[in-house]
Amino acid sequence: MKKANKTLQKEFIRPLLKWYRQHARTLPWRETSDPYSIWVSEIMLQQTQVATVIPYWERWMKTLPTISALADASADQIHKLWEGLGYYRRVRLMQKAAIFIQENHHGTFPEDFEAILALPGIGPYTAGAISSIAFDKPSPILDGNVMRVLTRVYGIQKNPKESTCQKGLWELSRSWVQQAHLLIPRKRHDCSHLNQALMELGATVCLPNQSAKCDQCPIRKKCKAYELKIVSALPNLPQRRSNVFVHRLVLVIKSQGKFMIQKPKANEHNSGMCEFFNFQVQKTKKGKLTPEMVQEELSQRGMEYQGLSHLLTLKHTITHHRITLHCFTITQCLDSKTNPEDTLWCTKRQIEMAAMPSAHQKIRRAVLDKL
Ligand code: ADE
Repeated sequence: MKKANKTLQKEFIRPLLKWYRQHARTLPWRETSDPYSIWVSEIMLQQTQVATVIPYWERWMKTLPTISALADASADQIHKLWEGLGYYRRVRLMQKAAIFIQENHHGTFPEDFEAILALPGIGPYTAGAISSIAFDKPSPILDGNVMRVLTRVYGIQKNPKESTCQKGLWELSRSWVQQAHLLIPRKRHDCSHLNQALMELGATVCLPNQSAKCDQCPIRKKCKAYELKIVSALPNLPQRRSNVFVHRLVLVIKSQGKFMIQKPKANEHNSGMCEFFNFQVQKTKKGKLTPEMVQEELSQRGMEYQGLSHLLTLKHTITHHRITLHCFTITQCLDSKTNPEDTLWCTKRQIEMAAMPSAHQKIRRAVLDKL
């Protein structure tokens, strides 16, 4: 058993817990200790901002309030509830884990750390977050926010993604939450609140680059980076991958009152979701795709069409990909080559109900507004 480290407790743990009591944002998943609710919040919060997650989490908890409701839900329903959040594999893995819990843990979310980590879609960070927040166990967490706090506090100038440094950061995170666990008197929630304080400090005060608000930080007196005036230089992350520019042609094909919809295959991006027919095209010189260029693309594919018309152009970003979607509407015959097995013909109502990634939701809005 670890021994109490009075210095660590005095310099970091107690000030962080006090700061958390005074400054924690009121977030709906902080009003509960139900592990299922906390698990849903942690999966939604991966790669997604708190403000975006709140309405999704509230709707999800109303619609699928229990593990068994999630296990029994249809694929269409879970994708519709996740529509717009991106990284749709997350929601499928969550359902897989819910089914696993039903079959192997009598429908009760497991309390044991290794059992949590063994669930589909749950890595060390999420397992640590659920174990500490829902069960108040001294399990460490390390994500981008926590990494920023710890590299700054200890003035760690090595690349934190490198494996030895990463291991050291996990050990520091572990020692902090263990010291919360060893506080005397030990209050319920100390581990939960310590980890959430670390997340919260990284998300609201110990911000990246020049945005850090050190004047508001409860532990700046003992922060090495603050003392050395190198806060904005840490963490020393490797250069980001350079952007890749991608252009795709999106065709909103309407024929005999129905719209053509494509379902990406299981191993493809956005699988489980519905999209308008689209494919990658060569980069354009001025970033524009003229109707003549579209005609050329379509005839190369042997597609028969009528009434080609520009609808809109949108840009969106997925990691380092900068994607431009050139959207056109066409009317065309059902028996053409654009009618392979993975396409569906949908009524207006079915289009409205379909789960679509956010770029295609915008296209759907534009199409329906024009009807
Ligand atoms: N980011 C990841 N987990 C979080 C949580 N529980 N609260 C706020 N932001 C988070």
